Amino acid sequence: MLEKNPVVFIILAFVVIMVGTTITMIAPFKWINGAGDKIAEVKPYTPLQQEGRDLYMREGCNNCHSQTVRTLASDVERYGYGGSYSKSGEFVYDRPHLWGSRRTGPDLAHIGLKYPDPKGAWHKKHMENPQSVVPASNMPSYAFLNKPLDTTYSERKMKLLSFPYTQADLDDLKGKTEMDAIIAYLRKLGTDIPVKKAEAAAQAPAALKNPFTDLQTVAKDAESLYMQNCASCHGDKREGNLGPSLKGSAKSEADLFKTVSQGIEANGMPAFGGTLDEQKIWKLVTLIKLGAK
Ligand code: HEC
Ligand code: HEC
Repeated sequence: MLEKNPVVFIILAFVVIMVGTTITMIAPFKWINGAGDKIAEVKPYTPLQQEGRDLYMREGCNNCHSQTVRTLASDVERYGYGGSYSKSGEFVYDRPHLWGSRRTGPDLAHIGLKYPDPKGAWHKKHMENPQSVVPASNMPSYAFLNKPLDTTYSERKMKLLSFPYTQADLDDLKGKTEMDAIIAYLRKLGTDIPVKKAEAAAQAPAALKNPFTDLQTVAKDAESLYMQNCASCHGDKREGNLGPSLKGSAKSEADLFKTVSQGIEANGMPAFGGTLDEQKIWKLVTLIKLGAK
């Protein structure tokens, strides 16, 4: 009978829809981002990183980049960079979250682990001209971010988000560009939770012996590993770019293995011990030592 009375029907339908909405969309705010989700190591953003995050949103980077490493093994291998898949606790300071739903470009949730260089040289070159490091890239140039950062609201933002900050953090913003801010943000992503470093790297060099003695057997694998992991810094033909030329090396094979495995992070050479297994690193070492000069 009720359905014959439109007013009652509309009111009841509204109530039913509101109950559903409350349970699925409003109530969860009660139990997300609580103490249980927090991960002790994950720290809020500094004023500079927060400004970078806001620029990331302003420029719509999230239209091409997701920020969540799914639990699939393939995702962890591809985008974990030695870390694991994304945990909810990694996002407790993200307002709004930038998980995204589109991967025109790679996932950036852990990008800070991939390019640990404190000077951010790779990022700067890539942001200014993506094709100069990844020739096939369709990412647009962001060279226009090389302009002074607007810090009018920096302190207010920190207060509003209740993130801790010091006067030194605010002073640090002086003279910074938008580029500095976005790079500071990218460098933080994924770096809070410590990743385990390669064990092999800790061995004495004498114990490290290249299992491959001729290039032919490994050339194909080595070339493809090189193009995927090394070319954007050392050049497509190993001629050198952000990093030195890798056409041969005066270093011993054991030393090269250690360099690739442990990296020289202070100078911009990432550690690959967490992402490439020993066999793969030896293949690369073989390519550097014996590949075409
Ligand atoms: C039109 C789509 C598009 C937009 C917009 C875009 N990117 Fe990209 N981005 C890509 C693609 C494709 C790649 C992979 C090729 C490359 O490295 O350039 C990439 C790569 C990257 C990488 C390197 C990832 C890696 O694993 O080496 C970073 C960092 C990055 N983008 C940051 C940004 C930031 C920050 C913005 C916004 C200011 C942005 N991107 C906007 C498409 C895009
Ligand atoms: C993000 C940029 C970057 C990537 C990616 C990168 N490197 Fe490097 N690499 C550097 C820089 C910069 C240096 C110079 C470090 C220094 O001068 O202390 C370097 C130095 C090296 C050296 C020491 C060279 C020497 O003669 O002393 C080797 C070997 C090396 N890289 C191998 C590799 C391999 C193999 C890969 C890929 C698995 C790789 N690099 C990926 C930036 C990079």
